[in-house]
Amino acid sequence: MTLTPRLELVYKKIPKKAKYIDVGSDHAYLPVILLANNIISFAIVTDIRTGPLKKSRETAIQYGVADKIKFILANGLDFDTGEFDTVSICGMGGMLIAEIIDKATILENCLLVLQPMTKHDFLRKYLWDNSYKFTENYTLEGDKCYVVISAKKAESKIDYNEADLYIGIPDETEKYGEAYSKYTQNLKRNLLKQKQGLKISGKDTEFISYLINEIH
Ligand SMILES: C[S@@+](CC[C@H](N)C(=O)[O-])C[C@H]1O[C@@H](n2cnc3c(N)ncnc32)[C@H](O)[C@@H]1O
Repeated sequence: MTLTPRLELVYKKIPKKAKYIDVGSDHAYLPVILLANNIISFAIVTDIRTGPLKKSRETAIQYGVADKIKFILANGLDFDTGEFDTVSICGMGGMLIAEIIDKATILENCLLVLQPMTKHDFLRKYLWDNSYKFTENYTLEGDKCYVVISAKKAESKIDYNEADLYIGIPDETEKYGEAYSKYTQNLKRNLLKQKQGLKISGKDTEFISYLINEIH
């Protein structure tokens, strides 16, 4: 099985020997490949629906790793997790991801690897307001750019401004990469469209202009 670039990027962020939970796993490609490549030796795979959970079990059986996975039907992390240190929550909206993290009470020393499909600004705000520090990596699938956020609780709140919420905090290694460049181009294009819409309806475009100027 070959992972898509989106899941491949998440894969690279999971530490070796992680005590790992994949929330909303669906097909479970990610945990199955992590197990098959001996990056981890055990995983908890969850989904809120029985259909996807059945699919994840089928993938695990197909790749001979079903005995190394506990399959859990649950809403987010609302189950008896046992000990863990790494959680991925991928392929969902930013608001849902924030809600899942918010309901979980036991993430103090945990690495969160998050891949929001929408509402990145909402998720960033949630993380910063709740004392998480994080960096972002980017990858491309054709024209589409995906963001992967690696977050951990910090000692205190991190300062941020409105532009950080929309633009994000790229990992140092990302700044000159093709994916980050595409990501910023897409952001700029969307903001210019919004600005045009606001102009037509006679509304204030100052904030959008500020955001556009902050994108480098
Ligand atoms: C689009 S799939 C993403 C699958 C995989 N994580 C990926 O990134 O390719 C989203 C999955 O999350 C599950 N899901 C949605 N809300 C959830 C929740 N609150 N708790 C656990 N799973 C959830 C859905 O049932 C679905 O299987």
